[in-house]
Amino acid sequence: MVKIRRAKISDIDSLYELINIYSKKGIVLPRTKKSLSQNIFSIFVAIVDNEVVGTASLAILDTDLAEVRSLVVDESKMKLGIGKMLVEKIKEETDRIGIEKLISLTYQVDFFKKCGFEVTVKDKMPQKVWQDCINCPKLHNCDEIAMIYYVKNKVCI
Ligand SMILES: CC(C)(COP(=O)(O)OP(=O)(O)OC[C@H]1O[C@@H](n2cnc3c(N)ncnc32)[C@H](O)[C@@H]1OP(=O)(O)O)[C@@H](O)C(=O)NCCC(=O)NCCS
Repeated sequence: MVKIRRAKISDIDSLYELINIYSKKGIVLPRTKKSLSQNIFSIFVAIVDNEVVGTASLAILDTDLAEVRSLVVDESKMKLGIGKMLVEKIKEETDRIGIEKLISLTYQVDFFKKCGFEVTVKDKMPQKVWQDCINCPKLHNCDEIAMIYYVKNKVCI
């Protein structure tokens, strides 16, 4: 059974290892243990048999804009619906906070389409989207696709 919950400090070593498997391949941005602990409240984890098998973070960029970051699922647990569950949790949290737009900069276009996102024009993204790209080796030749999900903002509790 898969459980999605907020990350705890005790998850940080596993999160660091999992994210950095993919950051070494240039698929997601690297995260330090410090950045993970400082942002622990915005990180969600997927747990199977008491092990961290996936994670996703919610980065708030502006009053109307948030981003899905550091979305990864352990290779042995892919295609079981865990990535989609993590994105659903991020969508739910974005809705709860009251933010209208959720974006992803990604190579996984078909996956995000299945999660309700649509491709959008990267050049129309506000400057704030690029503030963390300064640390990315692909800064000047970024080939990620910008995708957007319009949050329904139905949850008002
Ligand atoms: C992208 C990723 C998070 C998807 O996680 P996952 O748990 O395998 O995805 P799910 O099982 O929830 O898939 C949901 C749907 O998307 C589809 N899907 C998943 N990965 C896909 C892919 N690479 N290409 C096309 N469709 C894909 C699934 O078949 C499923 O479709 P269905 O609802 O019709 O059955 C995972 O492959 C991953 O960690 N990749 C490496 C890191 C990465 O690219 N992260 C994204 C950075 S933005």
